Amino acid sequence: MSESVKKTGIKVKKVEIVANDKPSISVKATVKAPKLMEKRKILFVASEARPFIATGGLADVIGSLPQALAKDPKYDIRVVLPLYSDIKPEFRRKMSFLGNIFVPLSWRNQYCGVFTCEENGVTYYFLDNEYYFKRPGCYGYYDDGERFAFFSRGVLEILPFIGYYPDVLHCHDWQAALAAIYLKTFYCKRPEYQFIRALFTIHNIEYQGKYSMDILGDLFGIDNNDGYLLEYGGCINLMKGAIECCERFSTVSPTYANEIKTAQYAHGLEDIICKNANKLTGILNGIDVDSYNPEKDKALFAAYGPENLENKKICKSELQKMLGLPVKNVPIIAMITRLVSHKGVELVKTVAEDILHEDVQFVLLGTGDSAYENYFRELGKRYEGKVSANIAFNGDLSRKIYSGADIFLMPSVSEPCGLSQMIASRYATVPVVRETGGLYDSIKPYGNGGNGFTFASCNAYDMLYVIHEALDVYKNEEKWQALMRKAATTDFSWDRSAEDYKKLYEETFTAF
Ligand code: GLC
Repeated sequence: MSESVKKTGIKVKKVEIVANDKPSISVKATVKAPKLMEKRKILFVASEARPFIATGGLADVIGSLPQALAKDPKYDIRVVLPLYSDIKPEFRRKMSFLGNIFVPLSWRNQYCGVFTCEENGVTYYFLDNEYYFKRPGCYGYYDDGERFAFFSRGVLEILPFIGYYPDVLHCHDWQAALAAIYLKTFYCKRPEYQFIRALFTIHNIEYQGKYSMDILGDLFGIDNNDGYLLEYGGCINLMKGAIECCERFSTVSPTYANEIKTAQYAHGLEDIICKNANKLTGILNGIDVDSYNPEKDKALFAAYGPENLENKKICKSELQKMLGLPVKNVPIIAMITRLVSHKGVELVKTVAEDILHEDVQFVLLGTGDSAYENYFRELGKRYEGKVSANIAFNGDLSRKIYSGADIFLMPSVSEPCGLSQMIASRYATVPVVRETGGLYDSIKPYGNGGNGFTFASCNAYDMLYVIHEALDVYKNEEKWQALMRKAATTDFSWDRSAEDYKKLYEETFTAF
């Protein structure tokens, strides 16, 4: 019944299902079905979003995809986030307080303040509870499971309060997985929630939200009978639960969508991914091309664009001065990365001396595992005047590096999408990447007329080979200029991906 209701948008009062010419079941539809021509309502549920709060690439996506979708008048896009104490006063001042509700979480009943603001056609809601979110940073607490269970449950509880029942609840990563799970195990039984469908997007399968089975009822408030949905390998696995409960799930590039069907990439979830593969799609992220625009970026030493690359030289020499590197025309190879093994740091360590044997400068910006941080600090000392190791997280410096460098190295072992290679490309800094996930989908090899340099296997010497190839092309001014232009004009805007998401929302909404 509900399918015909949804597709036609007709208000159904009474439906009779006839078998053998005799009326057998009589059902009363108590809820008004969505009207045709109503705006498509999409509610994003995520743990971070620019400009409010950011620790990684997820914040970039939640900061720009909703706004790209909201340009379409047929969509009503809203986003829910936790109100972390780290959200700066400049943003808090823009919010208004809507009121508060109480969120049930097993035997708990927790205060939840609801704040809102609007930006570029997107309505944001912030869920406030100081016990859970008045702490520095976003993650890494012993009770993260409880904090994000409160958040996910809060998202479903505020819907009657804000008077908005989305067509698609778009949940991101394990922190929002419980929203899809609660919808399926609990809320969909309530008439107002029965037309809501869930889409779950995996930004990185490494972080799954694993907990002991003991807390299923006491903390998450989930019935034992539903435990099988979340259970995996003897534990609660929230990502697995969301994959089972959602109508559709997606990852952030088509290649990663294939990779996570294999043990090499799936961090143990390959069987679940394969079992649900008919629900899976991969859509390549975009970047915010207004924010990352070398013609307008205030952080840059000089403005430039694909048709006028001359000023990039100023960006380079000023960067060299700033970092204490000799100002000269040698290629700058840059890395802006978290210093963790899946970013391919081992490959760089293996051939660092070989790279530095060449007439190049190497600039690093990033933080991460202390062993890697120490390694690069040490390298910086040994190669003073050649290596600049900046163990920091610094948005302003990152933009100066994207614009001032020549080659951007990103040899990730795995990379669901990756945004840095796209940003570098837009700043005419030529990417050298490993062919994995979104790197494979966004950067094509120079030899085939592409926008960068790529290597296939996780082998340091294969990487070194393509770095040499890049250095050779760099020596030929004309060819390098053409390659820079090619990189800078590749379309990484969200408009392209937003169209794919719209198709996916329609599929999700009509799925049963
Ligand atoms: C995660 C992934 C990264 C992706 C980002 C946004 O941080 O590791 O590859 O670009 O999410 O989807």
